[in-house]
Amino acid sequence: MQRLGYQVVDLLVQHFAGMRDGPVGAKGEPPQLMALFSGAPSETPTDPHQLLARLEKDVFPNNLHVDHPRFFAFVPGPGNFVSTMADALASGFNVFNGTWLGGSAAAALELTVIDWFRGFCGFPDTAGGLFVSGGSVANLTALHAARRHKLGDQIQGATIYFSDQTHYSIERALRVIGFAPEQCRKIASNERYQLPLESLRAEIRADKSRGLRPFCVVANAGTTNTGAVDLLSGLADLCAEEDLWLHADGAYGAAAVICERGREKLRGLDRVDSLSLDPHKWLFQPFECGCVLVRDAAHLKAAFQLMPEYMRDVHRNTAETNPADYGIQLTRGFRALKVWLSMNTFGMAAFRDAITRGFELAEFAERELRARQNCEILSPAEMGIVAFRFGESDELQTKLVELMLRDGFAFLTSTTLKGKTALRLCTINPRTTEDDIIQTIDRLEKFAAD
Ligand SMILES: Cc1ncc(COP(=O)(O)O)c(C=O)c1O
Repeated sequence: MQRLGYQVVDLLVQHFAGMRDGPVGAKGEPPQLMALFSGAPSETPTDPHQLLARLEKDVFPNNLHVDHPRFFAFVPGPGNFVSTMADALASGFNVFNGTWLGGSAAAALELTVIDWFRGFCGFPDTAGGLFVSGGSVANLTALHAARRHKLGDQIQGATIYFSDQTHYSIERALRVIGFAPEQCRKIASNERYQLPLESLRAEIRADKSRGLRPFCVVANAGTTNTGAVDLLSGLADLCAEEDLWLHADGAYGAAAVICERGREKLRGLDRVDSLSLDPHKWLFQPFECGCVLVRDAAHLKAAFQLMPEYMRDVHRNTAETNPADYGIQLTRGFRALKVWLSMNTFGMAAFRDAITRGFELAEFAERELRARQNCEILSPAEMGIVAFRFGESDELQTKLVELMLRDGFAFLTSTTLKGKTALRLCTINPRTTEDDIIQTIDRLEKFAAD
């Protein structure tokens, strides 16, 4: 056990310490990669050191390193070593974090971390929530609570509102909980990629006058495309007037509330009814670590708690909190541990500084891009994301993504903004240097010119 463990730790240390000197990872071709792994499992034992050597050669290099300082694509996953060790402990002790009976200290520690998050977001004492796999399940969990609270089991004629910049996990969650596409109102965003209050109000009123049942608005607290934050205070006022549930998808951006810059951008976040916040994005945790918070935890419990006979020992003591009563999973891993261990190890000041750096790096990238030939900014730096393009052609942007992937020095991805193909840099890795950004942009400029 020790020999295998030490070898695993050595491999991890090598990864964390040496990553910036290597490529940003690679994407293999399906036939080659499938051929490497296909076949039945071994009937007889194999030396795990040999297997580890295979993983080192074939598996880890053939993925993109989302934690690499020059990985700027989608939303990076800049994990940290302390949380990696926490995951090993949670897995090794196989901590059951579903019920108080099965994992009382785990439940207590999770409640503590959730309470930290509640405080960061400015929610009242009634708020609660839980750790989930990521933003998709956080959104699903919150929307189910919203629907149960506002509509009970009757979803006919119910309508829900969000902007065209909303992450697709919202539409997928709505599909899962039984909503048809015609019950979803996707509203065109304004020039700053925000949900416009007046169009929203008009749609809600029109639907009400037609006898439909508006029940929820989904706000963005940092969009994936451009980092845009919707007008949270205005939306909260509107939802209060119209008696609607306000959910904020802050899977990407809400963590920024812990620093000054983020708090300013996220004004009004404390007024939403529910919130998704992914520690595996801008709080530097390894996958999987999402979190859902609900202003009144009782709504989550009312939506999810069931009490079958074989759980009678779990539900006997009402003073005990069972995480499984607040979400979809019964058996749950101990996700809160990595957040607890890393926040205490590094200290909150380090987390605040690391998030602030994400803002600053995107602004640095924007300045650098503005100084380059033939580069147009399509969305200025906002919450750690800047969008731009080289030249006029949509195909050129796609080609640049391909060339960067083949080159391997850095990686970024494209999107579509107001009909134009755009490149975007998401700069939330605090280990990224200014020089990483300059060299990445140098390459883009050179490839575009070529
Ligand atoms: C704004 C937003 N919401 C939701 C999600 C989905 O989160 P996950 O991939 O953790 O399920 C993402 C992922 O990038 C996101 O950026």
